[in-house]
Amino acid sequence: KPLREKLMHDFELPSPLSGGKVTIVGLGHVGMACAISILSQNIASELVLVDRNPDKLRGETLDLQHGLAFVRNAQVYGDTQYSATAGSKLCIVTAGVPQGPGDSRTSLAPKNLEIFKEIIPRLVKYSPETILLIVTNPVDTLAYAAWKLSGFPANRVIGSGTNLDSSRFRFLLSQRLKVVPSICHGWIIGEHGDSSIPIWSDASLAGVRLRDVDSRVGTKKDVENWSQLHQEVVGSAQEIIKLKGYTSWGIGLSVAALTRAILENSQSSYAVSTLVQGIHDISEDVFLSVPCILGDTGVSRIILQTLNSAELADLHNCAKSLYEIQKSLHF
Ligand code: 2OP
Repeated sequence: KPLREKLMHDFELPSPLSGGKVTIVGLGHVGMACAISILSQNIASELVLVDRNPDKLRGETLDLQHGLAFVRNAQVYGDTQYSATAGSKLCIVTAGVPQGPGDSRTSLAPKNLEIFKEIIPRLVKYSPETILLIVTNPVDTLAYAAWKLSGFPANRVIGSGTNLDSSRFRFLLSQRLKVVPSICHGWIIGEHGDSSIPIWSDASLAGVRLRDVDSRVGTKKDVENWSQLHQEVVGSAQEIIKLKGYTSWGIGLSVAALTRAILENSQSSYAVSTLVQGIHDISEDVFLSVPCILGDTGVSRIILQTLNSAELADLHNCAKSLYEIQKSLHF
C-alpha cells in the first residue's frame, strides 16, 4: 500500500476549490503586490499567475507556493498558457509598460493597447463569464479598450481607477486630522492620476462634512490650504517612482480590496473606472471613476453624487480629454 493510503482512509474526496479563482496577468511589481495582498488576506481560493517570461513566472510561483502553509487553503499556480486561466471568476490585468520617472500615464497608451490586443481575447476565450479588473496604465483608457476588445457588458469590465487616489486622499486627511484613515471619507473621481477630481463637498470625518464646519475647505479662500492634499495625491506616484523606481503596495492593497468586494459579493462602494456615458450628462463613451457598488456581477450600480457646478465642469472636461486620447488610438 502506498504511504498515503496507510496515512489516511478516504471517505468523500474534497470538491475542487470553490468559485474563488483569480487570474493575475503580469508579474511585475504591481502584479506581485496584488498577488501577495490577495493571498495574505485569504481572498482567493485559487490564484493563477500568467506572465510571458517563463523564468519570472516559475520563480514567483514557487516563491508564493512556499508560503502557502501560512495562509488559508489556497492553490497558486503559474502558466504561460492562458488555458490555465479557464473558469476564472476575476481576471486582473497589470501587464504592460510601467510609468518611469517623468512619464505621463497617458504616454503608455499606444504600447499597452497593443499588449492588451494579445491578452484580452485570450482571457475571454477561456473565461467568457469572468470579470475583468484592469490595472495597467493609463487605466481609464485601457479599461475602455478591454471593454471593446472583450465584447463584455460594461458591468464586467472595471478599471482600478481612482480607488487608490481616494485611499491616498483619505490617508492624507487622516494625517491632518490625526485620526485613522478608515473614518476619513472622501471621494476622488474622474481620471486616475493627473486630472483626478476631489469632491470636497462630501469629504467628511465619520459623517461630519468638513464643508459644514468650514465652507471654505478645499476652496481658494481656505486659509488652511486643505486643497494641497489633492495636489499631494496627484504627485504621489511620481514622488514614489523617483524614490523607489515604481509604486506597488498601495495599488496592490487597493486591488485586493476590489477583489474581495467582487468575490464576496459585498455590494460595498469604491471609486472605480466604469462606462460613464449618460451619467452626469456625460455624452462621450469613456471609462472614468465614479463611486460604484461592487459585487459578484462587477459594477452593480453607480452612485449619483450631488456634484456642484465646478465639480461637474471638471468631470465633463475629464471625459472630453479621455475621449480625445481614445480617438487617437487604433482599437
Ligand atoms: C499609481 O498611481 C502608478 O498609477 C500608479 O501608483
